[in-house]
Order: sequence, then structure tokens, then C-alpha cells
Amino acid sequence: MSAPKRSAAANELRDWRVWAMVAVAVVVLVRAALLRVGWWAALAVLPVAGVVFAIVAIRLLRRPAAASGFPAEATRALAAHLPDGGRPPRVLDARQNGEVWEVEWRLHDRRSGQALLKKTRDLEHELGAALELHHDKHRLRMRAGTAEIPDVVTFEEFYRHPAPDGELVVGIGMSRWGAVWADLVKLPHLLIGGTTQFGKSVMVSQMLTRLALTYGPEHLKLALVDFKRVELSAFEGLPHVTPPDGQAASIAVAKDIEAYLELLKVLSESLDERRLRFDLARVKNIQDWNRRPELGGRLPYVLLVIDELAEVSVEEAGNPEEKRQRQEALALLARMARLGRAFGFHIIAATQRPAVETVPGPIKSQLLARICFKVATGTESRVVLGEDNSTGAELPAHRGRGIWQWSLPAVFQGPLLTDPEPLLAGLKRPAVLAVESEEEVA
Ligand SMILES: Nc1ncnc2c1ncn2[C@@H]1O[C@H](COP(=O)(O)OP(=O)(O)OP(=O)(O)O)[C@@H](O)[C@H]1O
Ligand SMILES: [Mg+2]
Repeated sequence: MSAPKRSAAANELRDWRVWAMVAVAVVVLVRAALLRVGWWAALAVLPVAGVVFAIVAIRLLRRPAAASGFPAEATRALAAHLPDGGRPPRVLDARQNGEVWEVEWRLHDRRSGQALLKKTRDLEHELGAALELHHDKHRLRMRAGTAEIPDVVTFEEFYRHPAPDGELVVGIGMSRWGAVWADLVKLPHLLIGGTTQFGKSVMVSQMLTRLALTYGPEHLKLALVDFKRVELSAFEGLPHVTPPDGQAASIAVAKDIEAYLELLKVLSESLDERRLRFDLARVKNIQDWNRRPELGGRLPYVLLVIDELAEVSVEEAGNPEEKRQRQEALALLARMARLGRAFGFHIIAATQRPAVETVPGPIKSQLLARICFKVATGTESRVVLGEDNSTGAELPAHRGRGIWQWSLPAVFQGPLLTDPEPLLAGLKRPAVLAVESEEEVA
């Protein structure tokens, strides 16, 4: 992040005053010496002058930019919401960092802070910004994201932004705070909800494409579940999906319930094996293991992606045998969600039917990072975003527009990637491409 900026006028003001003070301090010292109080007396004055100089300089340096632009606008908006409609609060500090403003005010009446906090949503609408407000006695602090959310942001445009450091970093979208990123390794799994055709699969595809382009198969393995057989087909044939020898050999794209159950069993075994190895080596998690190559070599992260949770739900069972399979799979999935993170197993699951049957409690309680695209009802929004949060239903009916809910909740426009194939072609094994082209000829 770049250093906080102040307005040019404030900087100028600050500079000439500081220099004027230096000049005055020098003049005073020289004069003291010339008045023959002697060098010893002049030296005694020096620390006192230094302290006075430091105090005044600090006060000047902390002086805020004159309230204009966003701070002035925000001051007026706050004043309009004060319970007594009273005097505007005084700006103590205002800093701009890119599209994000941080402003601090002194309130005339400390009780008005609480009332202003309750008006956060109204203030967001009036200022056209995403806001975080904090109140402490007479002080009110505001962080404001003032960037415009674009109607569309393409995959290429989005990933031109510098990515933060991390182990499995993906883009979420453009928000009022700027580009939003997530390191999947730091999230306790991700749930994506939203009405049909609002962008779940595009989100999953762009994330997978970015991951495959950024990290090699020795760092990341993909286990994909796609009963529709279209959404994730572009990723078949990637070396991340067709694993190297010895590593969970049957990880691939599961297209029906048998394959899904088989996949979960393989992943579960792999998890248990890692657990045993970590126990023996007294290692806490995959990050520690990978820092010590002498233990037996680096282990890849494993990302399980389920394009539609409803398709694997127990309610969908056609007969008792299938019901048993689905229940077994659900238990394995819940276990992986509960234990997997420390061993390098991460889950992304999407659904167009956010409801208790589709996202049962043990899954929901572990998939704690959330993305909510437009949903039909407040109830669905609450399943995805949590109790009291019906904002998913209030989103505009705009494809790719969603709410990211993790450390800093944010409305975003997701990166649009309609066809990952051309970007991934270079990564696929020639043999697989050859098989595909033979099929096409046939
Ligand atoms: N980030 C985006 N920006 C712009 N348009 C988008 C975006 N995401 C999706 N769309 C548009 O919406 C269409 C449907 O998206 P997607 O297939 O991801 O929906 P979905 O939520 O997975 O639907 P379903 O639940 O039916 O599988 C895309 O073909 C694309 O035209
Ligand atoms: Mg889809």
C-alpha cells in the first residue's frame, strides 16, 4: 500500500511553517550566544528549545488537511444526521490512500456517536461509498471506500492489479475498496450462494483458472465435482487434476454420485495419511511440514470444488442405496471441512438453493467465508450471509454482482471469464489434448 496522502495545500502549509520554526530556533540560539550569556548557557537552552520545537512540529505535522472534497462532504452528511441537527463535527484528521479515505472528527456531543453509527447504511447511500464507522467518546473515525464498482470487469483487467502475497491467492472482484483478494489457505472454506445465472460458476472458473495459471501441480491439486458435466469441463486434463504418481491417484472430475463418494474416500484416506505423518513428525500443519523438506518432501494443497451442493444433497436420493451413498459422502465432506485445513484440504462449494437441506448445519458451520450473489428471498440471504443479513436479496439484478463476506464485507463485481479453455490450453498434457482431438474427429 502506498503511504497516506494529504492535500497539496496542507503539505505546503506544513512545510513553510516547519522551516520558519527552524529559522526562529536558530536565530534565538545565535542571539543568546551573541548576547554573551556564554556557550554553556546557550547549550542549556538547546534541549529546552529542542523539546519546544518537537512539540510544535508534531502538532503541525498532525494538523489535518483543510476539510474539502470527501471529508467536507462527509462532515455535512454527518451533521445532517446529528440528533439535534446541530453543529457539524470538527475534522481532526483526514488521509487518502488510493480510493480509501480515513477521516477522524471530534463530536461536540459524545452521545451523538452512537446515533451516527446507526445511520451507517444511510450515510453509505448519501456518500456513494462503503463505510466503516467507529466511535470512542468524542471521537468518530470513518474508513470510506470511494471507488466506483464497474458494471463489468474482465478476467484480464482484474488480474492486472498487483496481487497480495499468499499461498493460494485468488481475486474476488472490484469493490468500493478497490480490488478484493482472498488467500484460500487462510479461509476456513468458502460457500457461494446465488440464484441461477448470476455468476457462481463463472466465479469458480475464474478462481480455478487463476490458480492453475499461478501455481504448479506440485503446489495445488484440484478435486472437482460437476454433475452437470459442463461447468468445470474446461479443467479436465490439467496436470493439477490428473495427479502425479503416488498422490491420491484417483483425484479427478466426479460426474455422478458414485464417483463423488469414491473421490471423498480417496481424499479422506489422503487426509488420514497426512495426519499420521504429521503426528509422527510432531508437525502442526501443512505450512510447518512444507518448511521442513527433510521430513519427506513438500505436500500439495488439495482444493475440493463442488459446483452445485444441491446435486450431492441427501434429499436428491432416488432410492435407498443412493441415499446411503449420499449420507456417507456428506459425513466425509463434513469431516474434511472440520479437519482438513491444517492438512492442506480446502473446500469451495456453490449452490443456487441456499437452504438447510442443501447446506446442512455441519457443512455451513465450517464453510465460513461466503460469497452471495443475488438471491430471491431474505431467508436465502440469511442462509448464505448469516442471521440478520438479508442484503443478498437487496442486490441489484446484475450478473456477477455479489457480496463478499470475510474480514471486510464488501459488494463486488466478479472477474468475468467466459471461456477458460484458451488460457489453460498451454498447461494441458499433449496426450490429453491428442485424445480430445481424436474424439472431435470421430
Ligand atoms: N462476473 C460476471 N460479470 C459479468 N457477467 C457475468 C459474470 N458472471 C456471470 N455472468 C453472466 O452470467 C451468466 C451465468 O453465469 P453462471 O453460469 O456463473 O451462473 P450460475 O450462477 O452458475 O448459474 P447456475 O446456478 O444456473 O449454474 C454467464 O454466462 C455470464 O454471461
Ligand atoms: Mg453454475
